[in-house]
Parts: sequence; C-alpha cells; structure tokens
Amino acid sequence: ELPERASIIEVGPRDGLQNERNFVETAAKIEFIKKLKKAGFQEMELTSFVSPKWVPQMKDSEEILASCLDATRNFVLTPNERGIQRLLETSCRNTAVFVGVSDTFNQKNINKTTAESLDELKPLIRDLKNKGYFVRACISTAFYCPYEGKVDEQDVLAVCEKFEEFGVDELSVADTIGMATPKEVFELFSLLKHRLRSATLLTAHFHDTRGLGLANIFSALQAGVNRFDASAGGLGGCPFAPGASGNVATEDVLHMLSSMGIQTGIQMEPLLEAVDYISRHVAKPIESRQYRLARNA
Ligand code: HMG
Ligand code: MG
Repeated sequence: ELPERASIIEVGPRDGLQNERNFVETAAKIEFIKKLKKAGFQEMELTSFVSPKWVPQMKDSEEILASCLDATRNFVLTPNERGIQRLLETSCRNTAVFVGVSDTFNQKNINKTTAESLDELKPLIRDLKNKGYFVRACISTAFYCPYEGKVDEQDVLAVCEKFEEFGVDELSVADTIGMATPKEVFELFSLLKHRLRSATLLTAHFHDTRGLGLANIFSALQAGVNRFDASAGGLGGCPFAPGASGNVATEDVLHMLSSMGIQTGIQMEPLLEAVDYISRHVAKPIESRQYRLARNA
C-alpha cells in the first residue's frame, strides 16, 4: 500500500553542485536556494563543511548559511570533527554526517576507514544530540562501491545500527553510483524497515546513472519508505565516486508522486523556475523529463 504523503529532501544545492567543474558564484547559489524555497521544500541540503582543497565548489559554505537559514530544516554536511566545529560556529541546527559502507570508498571520500569515521563521529553526534541538533546520517555505497563492487546488506545494516546507537534522527541510505536495481532496493529497504527503530526516519537517496532512479523510488515506496532525497534538474554526483551521475531529478520524482496521488507539499512551476535559473550557471545540460517537457527543451 502506498503512503498518502511523502517528503522530498532537496539536495541540489549540495549534491547537485559539488561535482560542477566551474565555480558557481556564491550569489547564484544563494539565488538558487531562494528559488527552491519558493517551491515549498521543508528540508534541504544547502552546502558542506568539507575541505576546500578537496571540494573547492563548497568553499563558500559559511556565506551560504549566513544568507539562507530560515525556519525550515536546512542541512550542512559535516564529515569530521573540523566540520562539526565549523557547524557549531553557525546558527544552523541540522547536520548530515556521511560515511561509506565500503572502506575503499570512505578512504577516497574522507580519508579514513569506515570504522575510523564511525569512531570519530560517535562522541560528536552524542554531543550534538545533547545540544538539541537534528542529525541525519548519509550512508554511501549501500548497494555498490565503485572500487569494491557489490556491498553486503548485513554491512549496511550494521552501519545503520551503529548510527542509531549514536542517536541520529535520520538515515539516508544511498545508491552512490546508481547501480542498484529495484529488486535490490526492495530487499534492502524491507530489511532496514524491519530491523531499525520505527522512530528513526528512513530516507532513500538515488543517483540516476542507469535510468533506474524512479523505478527504485517506487520499489522503496513499496518497502514502506516515504522520504526521498532528490536534486533539482537531476544535477549531482560525488567527486570521489567515478561513474556517478546526478541524483534522480526532483521534478521527475514530484511528477511521479503527485500523479499517484501522493502529497509532497512541493509545487512544480516554482521548482522548474529554480531549474531554469541554475541551468544558466552549470555546464551540464538539464536532462530531466519534466523539465524538457515543460520547457520544450
Ligand atoms: P584530510 O586531508 O584527511 O584532513 O581530509 P585532515 O584531518 O588531515 O586535515 C588536513 C587539513 O584539512 C587541515 O588544514 C584541516 O584543518 C583541514 P591545514 O592544517 O592543512 O590548514 N580540514 C578541513 N577544512 C575544512 N572543513 C573540514 C576539514 N577537515 C579537515 N571539515 C576531509 C579529510 C574529510 C576534510 C576531506 O577528505 C574532505 O573534505 N572530503 C570531502 C568529501 C566530500 O565532500 N564528498 C562529497 C560529499 S559525500 C557524497 O556526495 C555522498 C552522498 O551524496 C550520498 C551518496 O550519494 O552516496 C552524501
Ligand atoms: Mg549523492
């Protein structure tokens, strides 16, 4: 049975832009976020507190937060202690930590093994929870790793259970390189729904590399998931995951959900206007179906 409502967490300003080769001016990022907010998103990843040497595109994150925080749930990504120190110096009260299930990916992405990252994050997350922060944990390479291949479901469950023990509010489970099939999605999310606490929000994060993003969202819905990360215009990808293309496009997800009668609170036309705007600031053409149909592109 399908839910009546689902939440879309817009990740375009972060996942969508982090892989853009040319620097997108800070003012353009801020305008993009403001336009997205007009579409009604209540949850959005705005930027990342990562090393500007590793991801130069995210070097303006303090400025982004200074202009874009409001009463909705705005996330900044933090991979480590330095990232969380930077968070504590802002008035942002929501963060997304991120760890890969596969060691090789985690090493390439944040220069630590999975276990080292978990050990580092444990006291930091506990402290954030004591201070009343909302903590989301993004679980990368939950299906396939670009370096190690197929990832074991039990390893994903073990990482998710650790984060639950640390006290996170949400787990966003990701197909980082867009290789998962709807069958694998149904199996993994059914297992997680069954084994994790019902109070932990469970979110699915798909990249559309092989065109299976929407099918995977439908499979996750059938497994009982009603929260989805998506990126306006289908932009995105992780710079340290070769072969990853953009996230499933928010406008395509919105179209599918609303056509099936599932409410999201997001409006299509303002969303497409945000995509119009950012399309002029990125090198990649916008490939989402809904954008092309609406704009005859
Ligand atoms: P490192 O080089 O191992 O860091 O990088 P370090 O601890 O050795 O420190 C070296 C220098 O970096 C020091 O500065 C630190 O202060 C600084 P120095 O003394 O040389 O001047 N530093 C930092 N600066 C700013 N912010 C920080 C920070 N930490 C250390 N947080 C590090 C480790 C994690 C920093 C690096 O590997 C990094 O920045 N990685 C970023 C990876 C990234 O952004 N990936 C994309 C996001 S994840 C993703 O896209 C997946 C997701 O969408 C889900 C999915 O699809 O799978 C979420
Ligand atoms: Mg991603």
